Amino acid sequence: MTQAEREQENEKEKDKEREKDKEKEQRGVKRPVVPPVIPEPSQESAALQSAALQSAALQSAALQSAALQSAALQSAALQSAFVLSEVYCPKQIQTNFIVVINPGSQTLRIGRATDTLPLTLPHVIARRHKQPGQTRYEDAWLKREGLNRPESGEQRQNGLKMVDQAIWSKKMSNGARRTPVSAEQARVYNRQIRPAVLDPNSRQKWTNTSHQPEYLIGDEALHVNPTDCYNLHWPICRGQLNIHSGAGGSLTAVLADLETIWSHAIQKLLEVSLKDLKYYRCILLIPDIYIRQHVKEVVNMLLVKMGFSAIIVHQESVCAAFGSGLSSACVVDVGDQKTSVCCVEDGVSHRNSRLCLSYGGSDVTRCFFWLMQRAGFPYRECRIANRLDSMLLQQLKETFCHLDQDICGLQDHEFRARFPESPVILYQLRLGDEKLQAPMALFYPAAFGIVGQKMTTLQQRSHGDPEDPHDEHYLLSTQSKQDQSSKSMERKSSSKPSGFEGESSSQGAEQTERGNQDIEHGHSQAEALTSGADPEDMPSVLLARKSAMTQFEGKALGLDKAILHSIDCCASDETKRKMYSSVLVVGGGLLFHGAQEFLQHRILNKMPPSFRRMVENVEVITRPKDMDPRLTAWKGGAVLACLDTTQELWLHQGEWQRFGARMLRERAAFVW
Ligand SMILES: Nc1ncnc2c1ncn2[C@@H]1O[C@H](COP(=O)(O)OP(=O)(O)OP(=O)(O)O)[C@@H](O)[C@H]1O
Ligand SMILES: [Mg+2]
Repeated sequence: MTQAEREQENEKEKDKEREKDKEKEQRGVKRPVVPPVIPEPSQESAALQSAALQSAALQSAALQSAALQSAALQSAALQSAFVLSEVYCPKQIQTNFIVVINPGSQTLRIGRATDTLPLTLPHVIARRHKQPGQTRYEDAWLKREGLNRPESGEQRQNGLKMVDQAIWSKKMSNGARRTPVSAEQARVYNRQIRPAVLDPNSRQKWTNTSHQPEYLIGDEALHVNPTDCYNLHWPICRGQLNIHSGAGGSLTAVLADLETIWSHAIQKLLEVSLKDLKYYRCILLIPDIYIRQHVKEVVNMLLVKMGFSAIIVHQESVCAAFGSGLSSACVVDVGDQKTSVCCVEDGVSHRNSRLCLSYGGSDVTRCFFWLMQRAGFPYRECRIANRLDSMLLQQLKETFCHLDQDICGLQDHEFRARFPESPVILYQLRLGDEKLQAPMALFYPAAFGIVGQKMTTLQQRSHGDPEDPHDEHYLLSTQSKQDQSSKSMERKSSSKPSGFEGESSSQGAEQTERGNQDIEHGHSQAEALTSGADPEDMPSVLLARKSAMTQFEGKALGLDKAILHSIDCCASDETKRKMYSSVLVVGGGLLFHGAQEFLQHRILNKMPPSFRRMVENVEVITRPKDMDPRLTAWKGGAVLACLDTTQELWLHQGEWQRFGARMLRERAAFVW
């Protein structure tokens, strides 16, 4: 290397450093002080004592309700914190030493609780083949199962007809009807367009693998040359661990991928040495509908393998509400591959209101591609199985699609295809209704053409946990016995002195509240106790839930219908009213121009007339606190770390090693 070359290299390094510093400044990163010594938690000794006691079941119930209470307290604390416009952070909570992790199917969001914004990176890993000659494997991204069934095409056409009907029936803001534009009109133009070479050299490079790294993470993984011997894995798929029968699809392999990606992000991007993680705590955001076994495995990985000293597991929806400064809202998270809807009230996510739909932004992208192909898409070699093409298509969707009924007619657009080892090519294309039709498929998911897949998931009840002798089943059956005996006691003492009623009026309210929670518990209790019994004996809620299961599971419910269903599953009219007044949309999948008005209009039109009279204002919030909605849940996790009411929720490494899964149930701020 000559002197000049060396200087050039140095200059490049300095530039990189400067860029890194700038990025950190933008994220509001503060340098940590020396790691503190974490004192042995006082909760732990309490838990130890409680373990020694035999009345564990009752205690667990009490602990769990304490955790739920703390959720309500948190939401209250949070509200006042937001009123003060600054989150109150007690000194003893070293938020600099808390890492908040929000794993998504497409994006990992990770950062210190003190950072203003998290780091975001594609949640993907490329692993080098162990032996030469191994077949290359890549997890699908835009491609998915159920698209090539014989009925898929017809279903897609039917869905599109519904979309067109809806577009036509809604008037523009000036009262006029929209003139539909046929794909044929755009096609005639697009077919005659010839792409232009802008530059023979794109200056884009495949990731350098000459030093044969064992793995590559994020953008580097996405840009690994397909001729290199690397497999590509997305460890989260539709919000859950991406377990499958292909290469790298075992639970162990997926957990190893998560550990490698997160460790890399912590070490290389947050600049925390892995050996220092014993000084750090972690807040892990999990989906609203979660698989208990998977959460346990991930918690184990974080505490035992990575070595965090303590963890809080919290639901994305509740964190999203926190991140927006709302204590109650119907939270709609439209992600890349899944959409979840759930009603959060006073910091608690109502279990019956949780729905997860197996579609998201990537399905809109694929639908847009299909519509553009129909309209003569000029980049004819584009394939959704190709990773870089998929990235380009996502980008085109984000740039061109909208939900604004007022934009109509044909418009001309252009885009550049810039791939490694290829020239930069400029494409021009004319598009009309495709840009509105694709996002509208979220409301008419038949247009995605997915057949034979489970499209709607509800929260499954716990089937019992061998590691947790006092699991939900045990609690419910003991609770049931207690309830029965207390009911017979109540019947005996039904003639109370008249002064008693006035005295207990506030208690009465509390009991109704508790009663609402019990409805949630009551299902599995009823399920367990009434299995084989006359169905008429089952509580009506259970029946409603069961019928919802059979009704929805194979069917893709549209986004607006899912929201209405979720709200309808709330126990009281007062809660439903609150939810209609505050529909919070987070995630990136609905980040289209006009989405707020569009969704608001659909909810208003579809909500039951009785509520239309009751609810003053249906408010759809798509940009809470002017924040990027993709980061709202992460932000909520960071806010949570600051609240002193959160402190009792920490699950410490030692407790986990001694008591395992039962600690999750006892510490979770939600009904585990
Ligand atoms: N400006 C935009 N307009 C439209 N869509 C967008 C925009 N920005 C991002 N998206 C889409 O948002 C999706 C990613 O959203 P998000 O980051 O919430 O997903 P995720 O959390 O990784 O996935 P999931 O929640 O499904 O597990 C992608 O489909 C992306 O194309
Ligand atoms: Mg998400």
